[in-house]
Amino acid sequence: MYKNEMEAIKKAGRFRERNFYDDRLEDLASNDYLGLSTNKKQFKKAVKLVNEYETKTSKASMLVNGYHPIHRIFEKSMAKSNGFEEGLVVGSGFLANMALIESLVRKGDMLFMDEEYHASGVMASGLLGDRVVKFAHNDIDDLREKLSQYPAHRQIIAVEGIYSMGGDLCAKEIFDIAEDTKAILIVDEAHSAGVLGANLLGIFEHYDITINERHIKMGTLGKAYGSYGAYILASTHIVSFLVNRAKPIIYSTAPSVFDTALALVNIKHIAKNIESYRTQIA
Ligand SMILES: Cc1ncc(COP(=O)(O)O)c(C=O)c1O
Repeated sequence: MYKNEMEAIKKAGRFRERNFYDDRLEDLASNDYLGLSTNKKQFKKAVKLVNEYETKTSKASMLVNGYHPIHRIFEKSMAKSNGFEEGLVVGSGFLANMALIESLVRKGDMLFMDEEYHASGVMASGLLGDRVVKFAHNDIDDLREKLSQYPAHRQIIAVEGIYSMGGDLCAKEIFDIAEDTKAILIVDEAHSAGVLGANLLGIFEHYDITINERHIKMGTLGKAYGSYGAYILASTHIVSFLVNRAKPIIYSTAPSVFDTALALVNIKHIAKNIESYRTQIA
């Protein structure tokens, strides 16, 4: 049925397959930056935590009755440790970006997205019509120019903490520009949380940014945090808006309770052993 398309993929040298790899090999290819994916002790701790509750799975959307006390503990703990007012657990980083981009950029608003932003954000920006403009990768002059070229009710900038493709850091000046122009700043910390900063919290900590109501941090649990899922940290106002408007949050089963528990125990474990993890990652 898709013979021609498949042939084109093969011809372009872009054909890919999923493979299993020998567990005994040293893994330098994955995003398991702190090696938590094989930590049996942490896994057992998460099982113990989930077993404290009668309900062990998500059952429904968070707005129906899928919201679990472990979700809430996780959200509060993430918001507190990162200095944000509120947290929101999400099924995956892909969904978190879809949620943020699709719901926050309303009529009259403009999104300014780094051209190397993750595919999930790019896909969501396809729903925005002419409300999105890309700026050259990490190029502060281009961003400044585009911000002045496209005035809007709300200007929203979307960047990554550490770029997944090139491994480079978001320029510090982008935080300053967002501050000067009062733009909302979305930072995808998928690859920087657990990797950068004195407490390995990510790029906000690395640059010593004072969090304000226009800052939005999202991150995934499937990388340094050794689990699966994602989170959004923002003001109470923005989180409440997302809960009421973001389709991937409203119309999707609540994130896995076990995976949230595993991320929670892993993040606590990292905080307790910060010196050791910082040395290993350096
Ligand atoms: C920068 C970035 N954002 C978002 C995602 C998506 O996160 P998830 O794997 O949790 O869907 C990824 C990769 O997976 C990523 O590299």
